[in-house]
Amino acid sequence: MSAKNGAGTPQGWGHVGATRAQVLRRRFPTVDDLRLRARSRVPQFGFDFVDGGAGGETGVARNRQALDAIELVPRYCVDTSGLSTQIELFGRTYAAPFGVSPMGMASLAWPGLEADIAVAAQAARIPFVLACVSGAAIERIAPLAPDVFWFQLYRFPKDDHAAGFDMMRRAEQAGAHALVLTVDSPVRTKRPRDLRNGMMVPFRPDLRTIWSVATSPHWFRALLQRGTPRFENFEPYVGSQNVGALAGFAQREISGAYTWEEIARFRDRWKRPLLVKGILHPQDAAEAVKVGVDGIYVSNHGGRQLEAAPASIDVLPAIVAEVAGRAKVIVDSGMRSGLDVVRALRLGADAAFTGRPFVYGVAALGADGARHVADMFLEEIRLALGQLGARTLDEARTLAMRHPGAMRF
Ligand SMILES: Cc1cc2nc3c(=O)[nH]c(=O)nc-3n(C[C@H](O)[C@H](O)[C@H](O)COP(=O)(O)O)c2cc1C
Repeated sequence: MSAKNGAGTPQGWGHVGATRAQVLRRRFPTVDDLRLRARSRVPQFGFDFVDGGAGGETGVARNRQALDAIELVPRYCVDTSGLSTQIELFGRTYAAPFGVSPMGMASLAWPGLEADIAVAAQAARIPFVLACVSGAAIERIAPLAPDVFWFQLYRFPKDDHAAGFDMMRRAEQAGAHALVLTVDSPVRTKRPRDLRNGMMVPFRPDLRTIWSVATSPHWFRALLQRGTPRFENFEPYVGSQNVGALAGFAQREISGAYTWEEIARFRDRWKRPLLVKGILHPQDAAEAVKVGVDGIYVSNHGGRQLEAAPASIDVLPAIVAEVAGRAKVIVDSGMRSGLDVVRALRLGADAAFTGRPFVYGVAALGADGARHVADMFLEEIRLALGQLGARTLDEARTLAMRHPGAMRF
């Protein structure tokens, strides 16, 4: 939130002189408000793809339950008026300890949303991670977020990782500040909502799908304006813009989880900050540190991969203890407010990222929605710190607290 957009001053809907940010703050004060509106504007297959999780989705719910269970004890009679939320991460300054997680094909929920989120992240000055399987190419998105652009890569083992190394090179050329290698998808997962909606390659829309598109005019207009989402990053390797051919490439070529030897090879070639994403065990964090990564990205993929995985917040303290300052530690999965970000700081994270809220925001409100989500988190981080009597982020890390779900290894 900035004083400039006045998002801190509640105003009425339609109040004369109220800024758009003020109106949004009043009408959509929480991520849940945005989610509900998104659900009413997006065809079911697109909404379910983003909103859903693995199996019975108990992993998605567990992330929330674990965060909600964390209690923080405030200190009063403290002057917090001068507090700053800025952080240094890998040698760069960001506005706050939170960022946007990589989300592949989230443009199914809103065509072209990567560009909207990138622009909002740049304006808010928070890290934005573009997924390799996103609907928009590295070269198109990086210039929209020059100060905050990171890139995520899955494993493309064919031809000695030719496609992966080439995307790494393209990301470097485009100015990515950090590379994120995701390891938590060793095999494909099973998401029942996607199966029910016929989300497979090749995509075979049934009558229900056609009906849900026909009854989503805002989404359909975005599709006409911005084109059908496709895996743009793979066009050089497929030699085609055909959606089916690109999806087929993704399906065929992305496979397995990186081995530590492979991560070491990326480490050798990538001279900027390198993170490994999807770490849930302290021993894996230790291996990652051993091969020289700069950041451990603690995540259970938002409950989308292994339904039985622990909430990432519950394994965070053990991982922070294991890493012992040798790498930065970032966490995501289930973060829905600035208060959650502060909870994550208290449990030792250097920063907390979030995924789905940005999709809900854009799907609900168009481009403004991404900025609104960033503003909401920034405001709530400040509010949480003020409520807790923490004058700095470091003070937030020493608050008294209770964390009933903390996992011991
Ligand atoms: C639609 C969608 C697509 C995703 N695609 C990727 C991906 O391509 N690579 C990746 O590392 N993580 C991916 N993730 C996981 C996110 O990076 C992140 O870990 C997760 O969304 C965090 O949970 P949250 O959405 O509850 O904040 C995806 C998540 C969603 C919701």
